[in-house]
Amino acid sequence: MRDVYLIGIGQTKVTKNAGIRGRYMAEEAINRAVAHAGIELKQIGMLVTGNMTAGRLTHQQQLGALHADVVGLRGVEAATVEAACGSGAAATRWGVMAVGGGFHDVAVVCGSERMTHACLDDTTAALATAADWELEGINGESFISLNARLMKRYMHTYGVTSEDFGHFAITAHENGFTNPNGFLHKKIDMETYLNSRMLVDPVKLLDAPPVCDGAAAVILATEEVARAAHRQGLPLIKIAGSAIGTDSLALDSRRDMMVLEGVVLSTRRVMEQAGIKHEDIDIFELHDAYTIITSLSLEAAGFAEKGKGVHFGKNGEITRTGKLPISTFGGLKSRGHPVGATGVYQLVETYMQLTGTAGENQVPDPEFALTQNVGGTGATVVSHILQRCS
Ligand SMILES: CC(C)(COP(=O)(O)OP(=O)(O)OC[C@H]1O[C@@H](n2cnc3c(N)ncnc32)[C@H](O)[C@@H]1OP(=O)(O)O)[C@@H](O)C(=O)NCCC(=O)NCCS
Repeated sequence: MRDVYLIGIGQTKVTKNAGIRGRYMAEEAINRAVAHAGIELKQIGMLVTGNMTAGRLTHQQQLGALHADVVGLRGVEAATVEAACGSGAAATRWGVMAVGGGFHDVAVVCGSERMTHACLDDTTAALATAADWELEGINGESFISLNARLMKRYMHTYGVTSEDFGHFAITAHENGFTNPNGFLHKKIDMETYLNSRMLVDPVKLLDAPPVCDGAAAVILATEEVARAAHRQGLPLIKIAGSAIGTDSLALDSRRDMMVLEGVVLSTRRVMEQAGIKHEDIDIFELHDAYTIITSLSLEAAGFAEKGKGVHFGKNGEITRTGKLPISTFGGLKSRGHPVGATGVYQLVETYMQLTGTAGENQVPDPEFALTQNVGGTGATVVSHILQRCS
């Protein structure tokens, strides 16, 4: 396995009803990443796109080949990777394997999703395909209702209230406020959180991510290409670990509904690869799709004890100057969750943090960052560890 480096990033602003077709959002993100990496198109051997809903909501599949064609890469190896909301990071994992495995020296990974042109009922139904259709979807479950089940169970099991989850949303919105590429630019406080509209009891609007559109891209390359590329004085960023862990799609099939086993496995694998411990991690860009998933992720990833994840961060530990910053550009909650693109946005933002180019959102001097992108309610969990190198 060869070392793999992240050498270029590109992103579009996360939007709603911008009228830009998906292929052109992807084109913009990929072109920006290629320009940022300072490489030529002809160096790229492979393009992978992460996407979840295009087949259903825009009648378009084969986005890998389509995006390759649109950006002038017709003929290269290209494909789409789907792992529901974890599609973007899963596509990145494919890129890492291709470069690390010696198949290509340079790969471009794009995460792209366009949902807001469809009516909310159709989008909700498309998102529900990430659940187990025969056990959940067919019974009318949506992602909001499934997360409501998890949150209700957590509150009952551990004796916590709605208010206990509020600081996750407040921190995400605080960080998202200064993200120029983010979707929601609204600071909130506990009162706003508690008074936000109930979606499915106990999940409120401010526990949930917005439906939105966006595309992001990263360029992955060998060390030789990375060192030769024009880096504008920025440090090299290595992919020190890349791993997927899985679990049952259906909540009722879990060994313990209060443990995200996919997160346990994915985190353990990625940390073993990187050879680091929890205390080495300076940023955790987790999958804060719902505040309950934030709590459960903090526990399953080993940063909090079982039943205590909801309390983690109440003393500022998760802010940008805290001991474990999360959602540093707003996370899924405020930057937005264009589902198949989200995992690539996380990598773009983490690259910015590690290269010291995060502007107002900068975390002080990070060296290691863990990113985690989750498909469904925890069935596919894709983790990456990025390391700043000299
Ligand atoms: C929460 C949800 C139902 C809201 O949809 P909606 O009722 O159509 O809301 P709209 O898009 O019309 O937005 C209405 C207002 O709420 C705001 N808003 C929408 N979603 C929001 C959210 N999650 N958090 C905060 N504000 C939100 C909008 O910005 C808008 O504000 P404005 O009036 O100031 O412009 C929808 O975003 C949703 O289904 N989210 C869940 C998506 C999901 O589950 N994804 C997969 C995760 S695994």
